[in-house]
Parts: sequence; C-alpha cells; structure tokens
Amino acid sequence: MEFSIKSGSPEKQRTACVVVGVFEHRKLSLAADLMDRISGFYISDILRRGDMDGKLGSTLLLHNVANTLCDRVLLVGLGKERDFRDKEYRQAVSAAVKTLNETGSTEAAMYLTELPVKKRELAWKIEQAVIMAMESVYRFDHLKSKQDELRRPLRRMVLSVPRRNELAIGETAMQQGLAIAQGMNLAKDLANLPGNICTPTHIAEQAQELAKAQGFKIEVLEQQQLEELKMGSFLSVAKGSRQPPKLIVMHYAGGKKGQKPVVLVGKGITFDAGGISLKPAAEMDEMKYDMCGAASVIGTFKAIAEMKLPLNVVGIIPTCENLPDGNANKPGDVVTSMSGQTIEILNTDAEGRLILCDALTYAARFEPAAVVDIATLTGACVIALGHQASGLLANHDALARELLHAGEETYDRAWQLPLWDEYQEQLKSNFADIANIGGRAGGTVTAACFLSRFTKDYDWAHLDIAGTAWKSGKEKGATGRPVPLLVHFLVNRAGEGK
Ligand code: BES
Ligand code: MN
Ligand code: ZN
Repeated sequence: MEFSIKSGSPEKQRTACVVVGVFEHRKLSLAADLMDRISGFYISDILRRGDMDGKLGSTLLLHNVANTLCDRVLLVGLGKERDFRDKEYRQAVSAAVKTLNETGSTEAAMYLTELPVKKRELAWKIEQAVIMAMESVYRFDHLKSKQDELRRPLRRMVLSVPRRNELAIGETAMQQGLAIAQGMNLAKDLANLPGNICTPTHIAEQAQELAKAQGFKIEVLEQQQLEELKMGSFLSVAKGSRQPPKLIVMHYAGGKKGQKPVVLVGKGITFDAGGISLKPAAEMDEMKYDMCGAASVIGTFKAIAEMKLPLNVVGIIPTCENLPDGNANKPGDVVTSMSGQTIEILNTDAEGRLILCDALTYAARFEPAAVVDIATLTGACVIALGHQASGLLANHDALARELLHAGEETYDRAWQLPLWDEYQEQLKSNFADIANIGGRAGGTVTAACFLSRFTKDYDWAHLDIAGTAWKSGKEKGATGRPVPLLVHFLVNRAGEGK
C-alpha cells in the first residue's frame, strides 16, 4: 500500500473515499461535522434515523454526499469520546481499512489521524495509522493453490494532518511507520512459513537476500565453524535433526566507525518438537513459530535499513531444529558450552536457552553497547503475562527501562520480571555447572537466569515473546511483534548518539 501526507478540508478532497469518525452517541468528529454541514446535514440525518450510533469499530459507507468532491464518505464508529485512547484509535483505523479494502475504494483520505488521542502526538497517530493499515490488509495465502482475489483492494491512502506546518512531522512519521510495517511483514512471512519450508537454511538465505538488497554485511557460519568455535551447547540441539544448523551474523553499520554496536540475538528454532522430551501432540504445529525471535531480528534489520538509521547494529541468529532422533540429546546428557561452562540437559525441550547461550557468548566479541535477545522461550511466560505483554528481564535496569519505554511508545508492550539471585538456586546440577531447567516455579525467570550466566560481560536484556509473537485459534498467524518495540528502542538510541 502507498501512503502520503496532506493537509486540507475533507469536503475538498477529490478522492474515492473520505474517512471520518463518529463518537458515541452520534457525536460527530470535527471532520465529520464539516462534511455534515456542507452536505446540508445529510450525515446527521442518517445518524438520527438510527443507521449508526458511533459504536467503536462500526462503519457506514455513504455514497454521493452532496457538495463534496469525493465519491464516498466512510463513517467510522469511535466509541465514547472520553474513552478514546490508543487502543480505540488503533481499532478504529483497523475497522476503516478493512471496510475500504473490501468495498469499492482503491484509495482514500483518512481524517482519523486528526482526532485527539490522550497523551499521543501527531507523529504517533500517523505512524500507528500506517502500521494498522498494513496489518489490516496483511494476508498469508500463497501456500493455497487458489487465493481469493479481492476485487478492488485498497492501494493508496492519504493521511491528513491538521496544519500545513505539520506536513514534515507527518512525512517522517509515515516513513517510520512504513519501515516498521515492512519489517513486521517480513517477520510474519518468515514465521508463518511451515517448518518444512522455513528451515535453518531458508532463514539464512532470506537474511542473505535482505543483506544484499539493503547493502549490509552478513556471514553465515556453518556446522564446521560452529565446531571450531566450540559451540557444544548449540550443536547438541542441532544434532538431532537432518537439517544443518546455521549461525547467521548480520552487520548493519549505519553509525560512526568504531561506535559500539547494539547486538540483537534471535532464537531461531524452525521447529520445536521438544526432542526426546517430546511435546504433546495438541497444537504442536504452532512450534513452527519457535523462530519468531529470529524473524523479529531480521524484520528489525529490514526496518532500520529502510530508515537508514544512524546506528551500528549486529544481529545474531542461531538456527536449527529440535527433534527426537537416535542422535538427539537425551535427558541427563552433559554438554560443554562455548563459554566453557558445562550444562546438564535435564529436559531436551528447554532447547532455546541451549542455542542462545552460545550465541550470547559469541556476542561478546563485538564489544556491544548492549545486547538484547528475543526468544519464544517459555510456556510459563504465556501463563504469567498472557498474550498482551512480552516478558522482559535484564541485568541492567536502565536498559530495561529503555525497552519498556520503547514498547509503550509503539503499543508493543513488555513487562519486567525479576532476575534476582535467589532464583539462580533452582538451576543447581549434581553433575554439571548448571542444569538447563529450574522446575515449574518461575519458569520464565529461571530461563532468563540460565541465560544470565552467559551475559556477565555486558549490559543485557531478554525479551520472552512466547505469548506475543503469534496468535492461536481462528486467527492463527504471526504478529510481527516485537519489531515495533525493537525499532523504537534503536531509533531512540540513534537519537541520543549512544
Ligand atoms: N519453544 C518453547 C516455549 C514455548 C512453549 C513457547 C509454548 C510458546 C508456547 C520452549 O522451547 C520450551 O519448550 N520450553 C519449555 C521449557 C521447560 C521444559 C522448562 C516450556 O516452556 O515448557
Ligand atoms: Mn522447547
Ligand atoms: Zn523452543
């Protein structure tokens, strides 16, 4: 979809559709009121007849409204005016775009961006409108032999800003929103692919393609190089699979030479059957999403490269499968990680931490300004936080605050859990330096405690996205989270010259 920014009255827009909001109960927004007056109170008449009340997310499409230059007017319900906040704004934009996409307009001028949203500025509204619009039209149907073609999909959207001197702010926010949305789409596409197509090799090829298109450096380390690096923990997971593992290392050098990079590490298990500690059959298909951390890192690289962000960023992706096999890890096996620490694998299904620990050890060589890992790491995180917030744990409080703030900024929120020393006790092993599980209690915290043993040399934060990276049920599909959070985090860092 294409976007542009414009300032001007709604009744003067020569377009297929002008989109304006209506609050409950039948209270017209500023733009709707302008359209109403020019049309001789046609809109308020219709509302009075009861065709629409302004319920959040409802829509009503009107044709040939008198004295306007547009073919149609789309009324969008906004709910109660005093309750109109972030969530409501996003829902209203989404409802509008869905209706536009399914009806005759291929272009539209959107005035919802002029509505006041509590505590949010124009840039936020524009960025979110772009992200929500792209979300609403996203489809993943190319694996079906026949796609249902939309007759007249929405192709162009003009986003309105109230004043001419706000055009530049709008333009920048639109570009940022588009970059984030494109990054999310890439992350979703990769994640929605099934395990038989999205193998470690496929992820590596996709990352290479992106690197080539965007002009950043990439290395893909193969099995033999991983052996030379002594990544015994990562390799132990990979050996239960016929697909060769890869360690993808991307270098985006937008910042000054010598500036310490931010390192993003993404878990890339392309299918997690649990290994010998086999998972139950129900919903096991969703374990194709166990590479969503990796997908979010690649999506973030797409976004920051599109934006030409002035910052140095390294992306590290350990990727392999976790399957049961004659050569797979067995409960009780002891392996030696790249750091030299030995690990007793009490449960082969706690494999994410086993591949991440070696990637985190590897990260130290870049002398990072900060390291953030992103992983669908624990079912316990879904129990703790559900599907709204990603879990956040960190060994550095200022870094945690930066990430929490970035999440708030872009409605891709995280919630911090404690990484207290007391929890480390649960990882004691009788036979190795550390066990790979810490019992049922505090599963998300003990998983992060495990990782913390490998991140002592730098500021580090961990995002557990097990509950937020995809949706289950009827709407099954990847969400593209936490690409918005990560991009905002990096944008803020670039802004501060960190
Ligand atoms: N990929 C899973 C975590 C997961 C499970 C994410 C369900 C989303 C939904 C991870 O590899 C895993 O299996 N973790 C185990 C850890 C346990 C064995 C300590 C879990 O959460 O059950
Ligand atoms: Mn697992
Ligand atoms: Zn896993």
